[in-house]
Amino acid sequence: MIKTGIDAMSFYVPHRYIGLESLAERHGIDPEKFSKGIGQEKIALPGHDEDIVTMAAEAAKPLIDKYGADGIDTVLFATETGIDQSKSAGIYVHRLLGLPANCRNVELKQACYSATPAIQLACGYVARKPDRRVLVIASDVARYELDSSGEPTQGAAAVAMLISADPRLVEIDPVSGCFTEDIMDFWRPNYRRTPLVDGKYSALRYLNALIEAWRDYQANGGLDYSEIARFCYHLPFSRMGEKAHRHLAKAAKTQVNMDQALPGMIYNRQIGNSYAASMYLALISTLDNSDMDLGGKAMGLFSYGSGAVAEFFAGRVVPGYRDHLFTERHRALIDEREQVDYEGYLKLWQAVDPGDGSERILPDEARGRYRLASINEHQRHYIDSA
Ligand code: CAA
Repeated sequence: MIKTGIDAMSFYVPHRYIGLESLAERHGIDPEKFSKGIGQEKIALPGHDEDIVTMAAEAAKPLIDKYGADGIDTVLFATETGIDQSKSAGIYVHRLLGLPANCRNVELKQACYSATPAIQLACGYVARKPDRRVLVIASDVARYELDSSGEPTQGAAAVAMLISADPRLVEIDPVSGCFTEDIMDFWRPNYRRTPLVDGKYSALRYLNALIEAWRDYQANGGLDYSEIARFCYHLPFSRMGEKAHRHLAKAAKTQVNMDQALPGMIYNRQIGNSYAASMYLALISTLDNSDMDLGGKAMGLFSYGSGAVAEFFAGRVVPGYRDHLFTERHRALIDEREQVDYEGYLKLWQAVDPGDGSERILPDEARGRYRLASINEHQRHYIDSA
């Protein structure tokens, strides 16, 4: 059978953040509640001229620069913070990146889960057409109400992946375990800018969905727990991943080894929740930050989207994968950022799009080359400022 999977992947994060100690001080909370209790350090904050489109283009650009655009005939854009109810955000990205015009383009939604079906669909497609490649992008801005329990778990990032036959990074195993249940743990009606969330219930449903998906994965002939070298979880906050890892080890009746999951949490602790991108950010973090050469090793991947859908699947890291990582770029994106104080954070949080169609020129704040320059007559105008 033809091997398919992730040929290359990279992420982008905006260059402003607020440290969770500032939020703790503002709300009179012990900072250790955030650093230890939820396991987060920073919240990435998009500038006024950044959104899911600009982050997505920034994440995908290094892939196109290194591996070209030939054969990319499909763009799948996974997000739960879409900017339009009709048009796919991927169409803007398609133009910004100069992708071939003979291309299909569609947006997928199921909370934080949608990049996973995008990858499954893409793998099936390139198995049928091995000369083609699919660009899968997950891009989200996680924003909660001010002073809510979800506030410290905000964040923003995009992950871009090229899916191909004979991939150079991670072969995706066709065996999956899936689980769907109709629940209201986290949702965002069309008229709301921030989600409604039953936080503690959502964490319980996440853990339940993990076990249900794992059981289905086992029933479908998946790898034994002992055959998996590293685990990557959807990370609304890194402590959730730690709990998940313990929970799964217990279900598999084995001793937990946290070192199998911790490398995946390094970037997320510094960025915050990035919804659809989060589990894939954990995968990049694992590949970039594991001392051991993971070539030939299996990675267990758990994707969860509230509402809720979950999937457990596995990927095998391709020997020589390190030649195709963007580790230096990723570390620089995280290290070279500007901290804002609470007032600066409020200004970024409160920015809203004009609902009346009036013109709004956005300040030049993005560090990358792609910007949302203006919104006028309900149209968003993106530019490549390079
Ligand atoms: N020092 C160390 N730890 C401390 C502490 C201190 N001073 N004070 C509190 N803690 C610990 C608590 O003991 C608790 O630990 P346990 O989980 O082990 O019990 C932890 O910090 C969190 O504290 P609280 O239980 O008081 O929780 P909270 O009310 O502040 O909110 C939350 C936590 C409900 C997860 C909230 O962050 C939230 O609503 N987040 C958004 C929803 C979410 O992320 N859900 C996750 C599953 S759904 C999903 O994954 C989809 C998605 O992306 C949204």
